[in-house]
Parts: sequence; structure tokens; C-alpha cells
Amino acid sequence: MAGRFPDEFLMELRMRCDIEQTISMYVPLKRRGKNLVGLCPFHNEKTPSFTVYPDSQSFYCFGCGAGGEVISFIRRAENLDFSEAVRFLADKAGMVMPSEGYDNSMAEKRKRTYEINKEAARFFNSCLFSEDGKEGLEYFKARGMKKSTITRFGLGFAPNKWDALLRHMREKGYSWEELYEANLANKSEKDGRVRFYDAFRNRVMVPIIDVRGNVVAFGGRVLDDSKPKYINSSDTLVYKKSLGVFGLNFAKNSGEKSLILVEGYMDAITLHQAGFTNVIACLGTAFTGEMAHLLSRYADEILLCYDNDEAGQKATSRALGVLNSIGMKVRVVHLSGGKDPDEILRKYGPERVRSLIDGAANDIEFELLRARKDLDLMSSDGKMKYLDAAAEILAKTKNKIAQDIYSSRLAEELSVDKKSIVTRIEQFGRRSQRIENKNRFKNIQQTSMSENAKAALQNSTNIKVIKAEELFIACIYHNPDFMGRLDGAISAEDFSVSDNRAIFTAMSERIKEGESLEFTFFSQTLTPEQMSTFVRITKKNENLSSTFKTCTDCIDVIKSSKQKGSAAAAGHLSDEDFLSLFNKKGTNN
Ligand code: CTP
Ligand code: MN
Repeated sequence: MAGRFPDEFLMELRMRCDIEQTISMYVPLKRRGKNLVGLCPFHNEKTPSFTVYPDSQSFYCFGCGAGGEVISFIRRAENLDFSEAVRFLADKAGMVMPSEGYDNSMAEKRKRTYEINKEAARFFNSCLFSEDGKEGLEYFKARGMKKSTITRFGLGFAPNKWDALLRHMREKGYSWEELYEANLANKSEKDGRVRFYDAFRNRVMVPIIDVRGNVVAFGGRVLDDSKPKYINSSDTLVYKKSLGVFGLNFAKNSGEKSLILVEGYMDAITLHQAGFTNVIACLGTAFTGEMAHLLSRYADEILLCYDNDEAGQKATSRALGVLNSIGMKVRVVHLSGGKDPDEILRKYGPERVRSLIDGAANDIEFELLRARKDLDLMSSDGKMKYLDAAAEILAKTKNKIAQDIYSSRLAEELSVDKKSIVTRIEQFGRRSQRIENKNRFKNIQQTSMSENAKAALQNSTNIKVIKAEELFIACIYHNPDFMGRLDGAISAEDFSVSDNRAIFTAMSERIKEGESLEFTFFSQTLTPEQMSTFVRITKKNENLSSTFKTCTDCIDVIKSSKQKGSAAAAGHLSDEDFLSLFNKKGTNN
């Protein structure tokens, strides 16, 4: 079959790219028995539920349900498709890719998109120094940008025309459709005619470059106060907006242990020009756990340096929460004297910025300052409100030493008894613990209701049927020889959950050919989500002592729902009946 890697190649890759070593590059892992655990890179968590199983070379997160083997891990972590992930690992392991027979059409398309972006960036940059781009160059100069900065960042200008870029790219051999897919052209349809036109017009252009040096997207700013101020590329094959950061390609080489996070392109560029080479910009997007994980690969500490307005402070508070939850060190730079870093730099010069950065507050100080901002601490009412807010903030940190230090300071500052502050902190602590426990319970319930179960519920399929499907898959996985004995008693169409159908199909094909059921081999036919389901099902039923009879009992349940329709099946077996059916067989389901 075209588009398949040979098993021998995948097996070699699996051996050379040991899952423990590979995942350790992304997540610090601690040994727990024969397995390893760490904080899941795919969702936010404080206590590790991400588990790596060296025995089966697989991983599974009990928090978010992500699972699979080493290739699925790389697919998720690096946002790649299957063959790209294989290439990524093969490169690391020094293996030569099999020359033919695998599907690299996505990789080709992606490569082409990179080329398009690079050529477009070159074009915009050359426009800046042409007759068409005078205004753009004026604009940058007025903002104090040197020629060397413009060159270093590859800044440019999109002329005030409908087809400047389109024409240029056509000459270079790129199609309109390709430009449209790269977000560089827009499309309009009128009277059945499709027209393409430049997406960026009359704007100064800032290319976003990823850590490997590829141009992945653009931001275009107006020259005046008209709206919208910025136009940004949305998601493409090579760009995920929610993970887009500007300047990381330079900042990662700054040699500093910290990254300074600002809001805007302009802030980042002018700070770099002033010698702050570890600055990146989050481009006004919400700071997510995924982003935090990305940054944690390049720095030990994040300095938040958002705009000095309500929106900026809210965003700071949010980012603090996210960074704290993954245990990343973080401090907040308070921008006194200006609305954003760019303005402070222009008004007071780089020394002022340096001292603000050096004086960055830790997260507790930031939250305390924020809480007292609009309160009159001379009035008893204001004092009480502040103490309550402060106690709540300190309770949240759970850091006993910090609680002690700050309650002493508060007691002194507000001339109140330290004991009463401590008591209040404890009250808040108990309350938040109760809420946390509740949420944790809710989370557990939601997680154990897997995608599989959710999907099935949507089809109003009986939960017993889903259990039977999962148990059946696990039985076969652990006893492939049962398959032959089943003699066609079940087929893919009998499965009500589509993921289970896909897993069953993939398993039976391999069993029929007498091939091994290593997870690695499935990652090229199953999606990452299906891989997660597959690993979850097999882990959950790992210690089950299933007999051939378990399989046929499962088939009965699965098929009964088919015959009677899902509504009738719901009443077919009671929970007790179902459990006893399996418990008798000594299973642990
Ligand atoms: N942004 C955006 N669209 C807008 C406004 C802002 O995408 N309409 C994003 C941009 O990435 C911008 C960042 O949010 O860089 C911060 O916004 P803002 O402070 O308004 O922009 P600056 O880049 O700081 O621009 P300037 O200094 O020219 O005001
Ligand atoms: Mn700004």
C-alpha cells in the first residue's frame, strides 16, 4: 500500500528513539515504580497525571486522556503530521528515511508554504526601500527604528494596491490558490466569478519567524489611527495563532535564563534595538498552558511586561495563573511612567527600562499591589477590604514561608495583629481547598467519561455497549490468537463508536497478516485521538484475566444493541447484570 513505512523501519525508529529519553526532552519525568510521571505537556496541571510506560514504550495522561507511543507524542508536541513526525525523529536518531512509499504530500505542501512566506517577506522588505514604500519607511523612522533593526527583523511594507504581492508571486511561479491558503491573498466571489486580491495593503509588515528560522506568518499595521490597527495571518499549515510568539527566534539565543514577555510587535522590536535581546511578544493573544509549555523549553523564568492599562493587568493576572500552575518562575514588571515598554523607552531611555526589569515584583507582590490599587488604606473599610483580598491571595500561594513573610509585612504596614491575618489566611485556605476538591472530583468524572463515551452518548448508545467494545478490544490486544477463533463473529460495522471501529479494523488487519501489535505500528493508521483511546483501553484492562468466553460475551452485548436499537439496549441489561456478567469471569472491569 502506498504511503506506508515498512514495519522494520518503524521498529528501528522505536528502538532508537526511546520514549523515556524522547519525552524527557519536553517534560521532566520522575520515576514511580517501573513507570515515570510528569506534568502533562498537553494540558494544565499541578499534580502529575502524565505517565510514561517504558515497558510498552507508550504514554498516557489520566488528566486529559492524551496517549500513544513516541511518534504520536511528537505529532502532538511539535504539531506535525505522521510522516513529518517520523522524519523529525529519524533526523534525531541519525536514520535515513526510506526513499519511497511514504506519504509526504503534507510535508511538501508545508515546505511550499514556507517558501511562499519567505518570498513574500523579501518582497515586502524590498518595497520598503522602493518608491511604493516611502510612507512605510517614514513610519518606521518616525518610531525610531534604525536601518539595521529593519533588516534584522525583516520588516517591510505592503503597497497600497490590490495586486502588488499577487503579481510578484505569480511571476515567481506561485498560484493564487496557494497564496490564499497561506493567508496572503483574500478571495471574493461575485456573479459566480472568483477574484483574488492582496490581503495586506498599505500596511507596514512584520514577519513572524519561528525558532527554526522560517517565516510563518505576518502582522500588518496601519500607518495612522484607522481600524483595524493590525491584520494578522490566521492559522495555516505552518502557523498556529494561539501558539504564535514574536521574537523567539532571536530571544532563544540571548543567553539569558529569562524571557521578557511584552504585548506588541513594536514593543518587542524597540526593546531588542535597545539591547534587550530576550524579549518576545505574545501578540495580544490569551496566554495558554500550551504557550507556557513552549516557553518553558527556552527559559527558566518569565518576566511579564504587559501594557500598563486595565486590559494589560488583567492579562498579567491570567498569565500568572497559567505559569504558576505549571510551576514556572515568573515575575511582573511594573511599568511606571508610561503605557507600554516602547513609550517608556522613548521617554526615559533604556536605563529606566533596565531598572524596572530588575525591580520586577514577584507574583504575590503584583497581586497585592493590584488588590490595593483603588482602596483607601486610611479608612477602616478600605483596610478591611484590603486585608481580606490579601489573605485570599496569600492563601492561594500555599507557600508557607511566603505567607509568613507577607503577613508580617501586612501586619506592620496596617498596624494590625499578625495572628488575625494568619487566621484569615487559614480560613481562605480551607475554603479554596474545598472548592479545589470539588473541581478535582468533577474533572475525574469528566475525564473518565472519555471521548469515546461522549461520542457514544451523543449517538445515544448504551454505556454498557461502549464498555463491552472497549473490553473486547483489550481482550484481543492481549490475546491476538482469539481473533482467529472468532471466525467472523464480529465485524467493524458492529461497533457503535467510530474510534473503536477504527481500532478494531486496524488490529484485525495486522492480526490477519500475522503482524505484531506494537503501538508504533498503529500510529500510522490511527489518528492521535484514536491512539489515545487505544492506549487508554489497553492500560485500563491491562491486568485483566480474560478468557475466550469474555470475548464472546462482549460480542453478545455489542450485537444485542445492534439488533434491538440503542434505546431498547439500554433496558436490556441492568448495571448489576452487566457487572456480574464480567465479574464472574474474574475481570476487573
Ligand atoms: N493586536 C492585534 N490587532 C489589533 C490590536 C492589537 O492583533 N487590532 C495585537 C498586535 O500583535 C499588537 C498587540 O496586540 O502588537 C498589542 O497591541 P497594541 O498595544 O495596540 O499594539 P502595538 O504593537 O504596541 O502598537 P503601537 O505601539 O503602534 O501602538
Ligand atoms: Mn502597545
